[in-house]
Amino acid sequence: MNDLDLERPKILVVDDHPSSRMTAVALLSIEGYDVVEAESGPAALAQVLATNPDLILLDVMMPGMDGYEVCRRLKEDEHTRLTPVVFVTALDDRRARLRGIEAGGDDFLTKPFDQLELSARVKSLIRQKRLNEDLDHAEKVLFSIARAVESRDPNTGDHCERLVLRGKAFGEFLGLPRPQVRDLMWGGYLHDIGKVGIPDAVLLKQGKLTSDEWDIMQQHVLIGEKICQPLRTMRGVVPIIRHHHERWDGSGYPDGLVEAEIPHLAQIFQVIDIYDALTSERPYKKAFSPEEALKIIAEETSKGWRNPALVVKFTEFIRATEMQPTKSSEIQQADLSIWFQKCTKSTHKS
Ligand code: SIN
Ligand code: FE
Repeated sequence: MNDLDLERPKILVVDDHPSSRMTAVALLSIEGYDVVEAESGPAALAQVLATNPDLILLDVMMPGMDGYEVCRRLKEDEHTRLTPVVFVTALDDRRARLRGIEAGGDDFLTKPFDQLELSARVKSLIRQKRLNEDLDHAEKVLFSIARAVESRDPNTGDHCERLVLRGKAFGEFLGLPRPQVRDLMWGGYLHDIGKVGIPDAVLLKQGKLTSDEWDIMQQHVLIGEKICQPLRTMRGVVPIIRHHHERWDGSGYPDGLVEAEIPHLAQIFQVIDIYDALTSERPYKKAFSPEEALKIIAEETSKGWRNPALVVKFTEFIRATEMQPTKSSEIQQADLSIWFQKCTKSTHKS
């Protein structure tokens, strides 16, 4: 559905310097993109109208109309506001970045281009745009709420974007049907959407929660279910939202379901969620290595918390995908780290 190969994505490169433009065009053409060019702000606006690109690589400094102005105009226009704009700035130009954010830019790249970075960023932004196009209005609202929640919670960082990618990869590894893989991916964004109803005093509290606060925190799965329930297309995602904190032995919440009573996708999602929390750095803990994380998950499984057969599969999956660095997994890592930067864009990310 969102596969890049269905149709060659089109990228507009805007730069007043022919040599910079040619470098970008060359790099992107090698990657198989359809590339169009513009040498000025007004020419860029005309090209956008004429060719409707999937992404715009926009130089900041141009005589006449600069990149910020071009971006502002595109973001004001209903037809072009969802087209991702990547600003091209000089290295470490903080001011330029701030102005770029104000103008509505979606991401930044610095010159000279790093091929791997350029390729990973472009790929993920185009995926994001295509996902957006496939969503209807109500779904977009839910995804925006989820992004807002993630940006409120300083612990999560790029958590959701990694969950989406791993959800896809592990779902495919398990041979799940496509609609279920999609539900797992959507679960990556939406599982904690109910935190929108959790007060800052609890959600952002440093240190241990009291038992009352913990009760409030646990409401997030019920609030999330209530938010997503009314939408037909969320049918497969709602069980993930409600049940992602159940445990195999019945000691989880909200329903204390036991073993196979826990919806299968919620079990799968939970393992991915926990693995990601373990392998990420948090203010109160370091990032564990994949090997250490798998060990902790195995210990939790022997305590009775997880589905043992599923954990075996997950261990195989991680060994196959994340513990033998190959060229393609390097690229995937780069991709992971910037995937859906927008999730958190409004606060801590560039
Ligand atoms: C969360 O959902 O991330 C926090 C609540 C919990 O760990 O149960
Ligand atoms: Fe949660």
